[in-house]
Amino acid sequence: MVGQISSIFDPASSGAALIRDLSGLVLWICLGIFVVTQVGLIWVIVRFRARPGDEGHEPPQVYGSTQVELAWTIVPLIIVLVLFLTTARTIGEIEDREPGPGSLEVLVVGHQWWWEIRYPGRGVVTANELHVPRSSAAAPHTTFIDLRSADVIHSFWIPQLAGKTDLIPGHDNRMWLEPDRTGVFLGQCAEFCGTQHARMGLRVVVEEPAEFERWLTAQRASPAVPATASAAARGRDIFSTTSCVNCHTLEGAGGDGRFGPDLSHLMSRATLGAGAAANTPVNLRAWVRDPQTLKPGCNMPDMKLSEPEVDAVVAYLLTLG
Ligand code: CUA
Repeated sequence: MVGQISSIFDPASSGAALIRDLSGLVLWICLGIFVVTQVGLIWVIVRFRARPGDEGHEPPQVYGSTQVELAWTIVPLIIVLVLFLTTARTIGEIEDREPGPGSLEVLVVGHQWWWEIRYPGRGVVTANELHVPRSSAAAPHTTFIDLRSADVIHSFWIPQLAGKTDLIPGHDNRMWLEPDRTGVFLGQCAEFCGTQHARMGLRVVVEEPAEFERWLTAQRASPAVPATASAAARGRDIFSTTSCVNCHTLEGAGGDGRFGPDLSHLMSRATLGAGAAANTPVNLRAWVRDPQTLKPGCNMPDMKLSEPEVDAVVAYLLTLG
């Protein structure tokens, strides 16, 4: 989870591969310029160094050389032209992509400091963990993502899957992912958005299409109803009679808020607070006790529940698979 390396040089999606190829070309050109200029510099330093007997002698002064001036104008012009054309071609290939059969539509809304994820038409809402199907030449499954913001500018970036795209208040942006291998790919908000910008992580789970459909079905299922008089039932009552319901959607406990993450299938997710901590019972208890200890400055306040109330709420949340 947190701290794992996610490199643009190991692309797992066709869009990211285009960006890697372009970055490689730019890097090689820059390396060539670096070597040529440094070798020239060292040669001049050695060749024209001061020698014994040079004291008091002004070296010959040379003014103007059409050949040299043409060379240092035309060569950089060609380099810039090559960089411009290859970059324009890559941008065009990425921007011009249109949805086809087998494409999936997802809506991602950036919040301080978490990601709301919706699958319109599929009846699924989740947070901080984007599940998408793997795409192959035989069965293309490109995921098109509409990006919006609920508050300030955020930036959606999964280095191995695509370039950065900003989420801007009042302006919809769009991008796509076409992952060619399964696995978990880590992303991070890439635009400073406030105190917990660093803890606005995103996990993208790429699954085989059949497995992805099973995940959608499981996410659509209603949460289990806790047994009467159990700790979980007490927890659900506490949840539904406190202000938890104003911010969180939780089917079965009267929650319909959209200010915080949907909790209906909380335990199917690997982290709490957009990657602030692993989703373990111990961390979940610490989060419910006082989220400010795990993610200082986050918008969920200390709910000031008593210790038995915290235990009951956690017992309830642990049932939400
Ligand atoms: Cu959201 Cu930085």
